[in-house]
Amino acid sequence: MLKATDIDNLIRKCIRQMKAYTPVDPAELLHEKAGVPKEQTSKLDGNENPYGCSPRVQKALAVFQDYNRYPDPEQREVRRALSKYTGIKPENIVAGAGSDDLIDIIVRLFIEPGDRVINCPPTFGMYPFSASIAGGEIVKVPRKADFSLDIEGIRKAVDDRTRLIFVASPNNPSGNQSSEKEIRELLDLDIMVVVDEAYVEFSGNSLLHLAPQFDSLIVLRTFSKWAGIAGLRAGYGICPPNIANELMKIKQPYNINMAAYVAILESLKDIDYLQGTVRAMVAERDRLYTALGEFKWLKPYPSAANFILCRVIGRNARDIYLGLQKRGIFIRYFDTPGLEDCVRFSAGTPRDTDRVIAALRDM
Ligand SMILES: Cc1ncc(COP(=O)(O)O)c(C=O)c1O
Repeated sequence: MLKATDIDNLIRKCIRQMKAYTPVDPAELLHEKAGVPKEQTSKLDGNENPYGCSPRVQKALAVFQDYNRYPDPEQREVRRALSKYTGIKPENIVAGAGSDDLIDIIVRLFIEPGDRVINCPPTFGMYPFSASIAGGEIVKVPRKADFSLDIEGIRKAVDDRTRLIFVASPNNPSGNQSSEKEIRELLDLDIMVVVDEAYVEFSGNSLLHLAPQFDSLIVLRTFSKWAGIAGLRAGYGICPPNIANELMKIKQPYNINMAAYVAILESLKDIDYLQGTVRAMVAERDRLYTALGEFKWLKPYPSAANFILCRVIGRNARDIYLGLQKRGIFIRYFDTPGLEDCVRFSAGTPRDTDRVIAALRDM
């Protein structure tokens, strides 16, 4: 009979060796930790939409009758609606349970154990997470001090085992964008280039127009941020039809659940409303950026997304994070290479911004 220790040895070595992803805590846990009632808290740690989803989504989900049925595995209606939204043909589109799902199936499509994936930290943690699970080797090419890509370093890092590079633009957590020139330089390399545009609705600066021109480009998008349905898990990828076909083949058949399916369709019927919430978040991001810059001990970085990375100078960043937490304001704290003494504030409502400023003045 197998013992627990034997079973440990059955688990793939790359899984045993990998570090767990650090997700954000659910709101209820945060309230409990801080001992502050929900109404007095500001959840600014997940880059979510504080205004929630479109009222159309709320209504449609409440009256929807077919939760007992499986969703369409071919995602026909969703792909058609996304095609209308993006101007890209449905056969170039694959929807997923958040862009996390797409990151995972892209890695599973291209990576055999030992293949290399280029990652440019500091950046979104799911790229090395999914690549590690697939047994891929992560080749780190750190971003420069201003968080721009080290294109020369990337070029040098590519070898005949390199398959993929992930680039978030705007980047999480730094908020800066990569230029079209930089992405074109990456597209010159003999590897697949995944440009993650999770925050593009806040920057208004997409590289999607490059998609039809390049066979090696995949663009990722999500409904989690601008459309306020992070909890329903809805994202999509845009890529050449041959890749889309393979991704469709290997995804879980019902990867977007029925509620997400309905929510995607309804969100896309309420774009004006959602863009209003995006504009409100952008206004608060800009107000917060100016306000943070007025503290001598904070250095906010300009951001094209719905959050602001901020370096704490001459004071302890973790204390700031904990001090805000005690006051019911939840942000992210980082202390990894390139992000030493950094915190990240998601853009919230005007009330959230006011509370952050007041709390920081008080600290
Ligand atoms: C750069 C980036 N890509 C993807 C995601 C994940 O999005 P989704 O909720 O669609 O899985 C995030 C979420 O924080 C992100 O920051």
